[in-house]
Amino acid sequence: MKLYNLQHPEEQVTFAEAVKLGMGRDRGLFFPTEIPQLHDVDSLLRLPFLERSCRIIEAWIGTEVGHAAVRQLVEKAFDFPLKLVKVDDHRSILELFHGPTLAFKDFGARFMAQCLSEFAAGQKITILTATSGDTGAAVAHAFYGLPGIRVVVLYPEGKISPLQEKLFCTLGGNIHTVAVSSDFDACQELVKKSFVDNDLQQALHLNSANSINIARLLAQVCYYFEAVAACDCGKPPVIAVPSGNFGNLTAGLLAQAMGLPVKRFIAATNCNDTVPRYLSSGVWSPNPTAATASNAMDVAAPSNWPRVEAVLAAMGRPLSDLAGIAVSEEQTRESLRDLKRLGYLAEPHAAVAAYALQKSLQPGEHGIFLGTAHPAKFKETVEQTLALIIDLPAPLQAVSDRPVLSGRSGNDFDKFKDYLLKEIAD
Ligand SMILES: Cc1ncc(COP(=O)(O)O)c(C=O)c1O
Repeated sequence: MKLYNLQHPEEQVTFAEAVKLGMGRDRGLFFPTEIPQLHDVDSLLRLPFLERSCRIIEAWIGTEVGHAAVRQLVEKAFDFPLKLVKVDDHRSILELFHGPTLAFKDFGARFMAQCLSEFAAGQKITILTATSGDTGAAVAHAFYGLPGIRVVVLYPEGKISPLQEKLFCTLGGNIHTVAVSSDFDACQELVKKSFVDNDLQQALHLNSANSINIARLLAQVCYYFEAVAACDCGKPPVIAVPSGNFGNLTAGLLAQAMGLPVKRFIAATNCNDTVPRYLSSGVWSPNPTAATASNAMDVAAPSNWPRVEAVLAAMGRPLSDLAGIAVSEEQTRESLRDLKRLGYLAEPHAAVAAYALQKSLQPGEHGIFLGTAHPAKFKETVEQTLALIIDLPAPLQAVSDRPVLSGRSGNDFDKFKDYLLKEIAD
């Protein structure tokens, strides 16, 4: 598989290089030079998820990585279930939150971790990342126990929920967590400075494993095929994607470009509505980011947007093929209540997509919206809106009594560097 830098098309890399580099020159996104076409999609859709996902990933990287290696990557990464659940006569939810950290990120993070481990070829590398809560947990779990890789996750002390902290700061082994006595921006600053520090680079071989890594998108393509395979509506569904950075939607469009029958995609956002406004006015004008109940989608300038445009262009489709719907806070709560009345307990991100789907569906159409997180991850909002108590799911229950193993650091870079060299480097 060859990829090019969307900002500097002359920069071309292999899949392994793109996974290791994360980003191209000037923070340009890597994008495939060619999107593989699947020919017998109907029989592919009849296969079980793992077998089908091997075929999909093979179509992208089978030649470069080898078929046996693809199978191993897929089987190790996707070792948890996903399911499509009907919520009413015309809408179903694809539940993507049955992995170790109860969020769709487990698909991308685990597949990326397996790829990096494969491509590191024995070289010891250190994943250094900052989190404001969720991504750190997915990354930490994805790399937990992988030989040759250690992970350092920084987070702002006291600014993530106690349960979020338990989920990734109790693992130990190759996972090091550091509570920084400051805010998320300070954590990101420490990470940025570390990447340009020669001593740290030499001692630790730093890698970012960031969220725009191409490996994550390939993993996500697989669950769109499952959505259509599991849907018994007998026609291509409409799919609503709760969107923030637009990685998830990019993966859906890539699946469609490979041949997956989807009637149309809906980019569902909260009031951070840069994309819906752009789709209706043609003017790209991000407003300041607003805080919402679907806070993982509080993104005003989505970094994957150039990829969305690139896939549409590769399919020869106009931007107008994409529906963009912004959902207000009140509508999000209304949607949570509506789903509850239908007997389905959702959380705010899925509720945004469910609402947008309902608004867009025409008579005779069937729609699927993505369930990107377990309701327990947004316990406070869900409990308040619906006046109920959510039980802790098994993965959270399992960690709730374990001790937090995090080290601590201030936001002074030199002290942080000393800490890394003394505590983490060999
Ligand atoms: C629960 C949840 N839903 C939806 C999204 C949006 O996904 P994307 O950023 O790929 O658009 C995120 C992103 O972090 C998320 O955590």
